[in-house]
Amino acid sequence: MGFPRKRHVWIVLTAITLVFCVILIFDGQAHWRLNSNMHLDDTDLSEGYGFRKLLEDPLARIERLRSEGMEQRLPQCIIIGVRKCGTRALLEFLDLHPKIRIADMEMHFFNKDENYEKGYEWYTKYMPFSLNTDITIEKTPRYFISENAPERIQKMNHSIKLIVIFRNPTTRVISDYAQVYQNKVERNYSVERLEDIVISKRTGRVNTGYKAVRISMYYYHLTHWLQYFNRDQIHVVNGDNLIVNPLEEIHEVETFLGLNHHVTETNVYFNETRGFFCMNSVDKQHCLGATKGRKHPNIDSKIVKKLKNFYRPYNRKLFAMIGKEFDWD
Ligand code: A3P
Repeated sequence: MGFPRKRHVWIVLTAITLVFCVILIFDGQAHWRLNSNMHLDDTDLSEGYGFRKLLEDPLARIERLRSEGMEQRLPQCIIIGVRKCGTRALLEFLDLHPKIRIADMEMHFFNKDENYEKGYEWYTKYMPFSLNTDITIEKTPRYFISENAPERIQKMNHSIKLIVIFRNPTTRVISDYAQVYQNKVERNYSVERLEDIVISKRTGRVNTGYKAVRISMYYYHLTHWLQYFNRDQIHVVNGDNLIVNPLEEIHEVETFLGLNHHVTETNVYFNETRGFFCMNSVDKQHCLGATKGRKHPNIDSKIVKKLKNFYRPYNRKLFAMIGKEFDWD
């Protein structure tokens, strides 16, 4: 009769241990969610999560930040796009500036009705803590092609500063294709060659029904933004140059935002393995993840030429509109 009783004791002990583990996991997730809603800055992330984080009191942290004059504020600057032109690199280089506070997540607030309907209070909760002398920046590349985003952003703040980053439109199409291709391969979906999607089989012309082609028609989308904002409210970053000379582009943005030139050679370094410039801040060095800077597939040169020819007239109009020219041929 002793054995079954012992077995009961074991069962009870195991059950208690399991319940304890479940509580720890959920508690950890709750802390993590709360912290990610607060949008921890890089310093916080470098502290790491886990048990030490579990013991921290997020509310006490908020109290401390508030006592230091920090609040979560609506952004004073938004990076509106363009997807695959270097938006993440731009945001992270800007994060090296002590007066810039970035929202880590792409919020999709102004383009998605279900988010917009939640209101500014919801949106602000995802913004980083900042001083009133700091500049909060959010980036959602999808805004650039959104029908509603320009009007909604203007309604929030008609004097907001906007940043748009462009890259050779043909390279952008290939980069876009490479991303979607990889995602499909990882899910075991069937994939088509870019050459077969980008040219209409019926007409032999560039297929404007393909979204990646339409996104690169920058002139068309920017025209929409200029119906709501003055040209001097929109700063254009050269995405091709950001890859090879990030400091030049970051200095221009600092000027646009009315900030001193803080980001210097000491804040960036070239990583030979990645083949890109990376970020060097006080507490850590880091490069962007593997999803940035993918190897592009080799595309038939005739198709590349067709794409370049297709974009040339749009590019000319864009250059006239922004008062800047890029070497995209
Ligand atoms: P590829 O993956 O085609 O090379 P986005 O962040 O808007 O999705 O843009 C991704 C692109 O950013 C990458 O496209 C890459 O070329 C470019 N980029 C610019 N600077 C970079 C950097 N320092 N590290 C990694 N990618 C960078």
